[in-house]
Amino acid sequence: MRTEEAVKFFGQDIINSNGMELEKRYMQHGNTSAFLHSLKVACVSYSIAKKLKLKVDEKSLIRGSLLHDYFLYDWHDKNSCHGLHGFTHAKTALENAEKEFELNDVEKDMILKHMFPLNLKPPKHKESVILCIADKIVATCETLKINIFKYDLAIIYM
Ligand SMILES: [Fe+2]
Ligand SMILES: [Fe+2]
Repeated sequence: MRTEEAVKFFGQDIINSNGMELEKRYMQHGNTSAFLHSLKVACVSYSIAKKLKLKVDEKSLIRGSLLHDYFLYDWHDKNSCHGLHGFTHAKTALENAEKEFELNDVEKDMILKHMFPLNLKPPKHKESVILCIADKIVATCETLKINIFKYDLAIIYM
């Protein structure tokens, strides 16, 4: 399956969720919304697994990646009480995601550990390691305004 198709196939309900509607309003890095960031990370996670021919749970890899930043607030808002965002948002994302979606152990581990090594507990599954790497690649590219996608993901998924 092509990357964009796989993300749609396994993640359509997440992409269409109310939480993702909120994510469209919150900026992540530079001028990228949390929604777009999550889509990019899901695509890069899937691509890494495919390129390296890794045997992974594709559905969990995509769903955990889509939900990894499901903290649902604007972390740039100085008036909010999210000062330790870098350290706390993975746990908040997991709590929010668990309220809305049925998550398996791999998906929970992915969301909770995606900030490793900032959050000290190491990932338990290879899907979590892939997400850690994909998130850092995407975040770096967003901050430096480097486009690594051939397509406009916002148009494909909106
Ligand atoms: Fe994050
Ligand atoms: Fe992220």
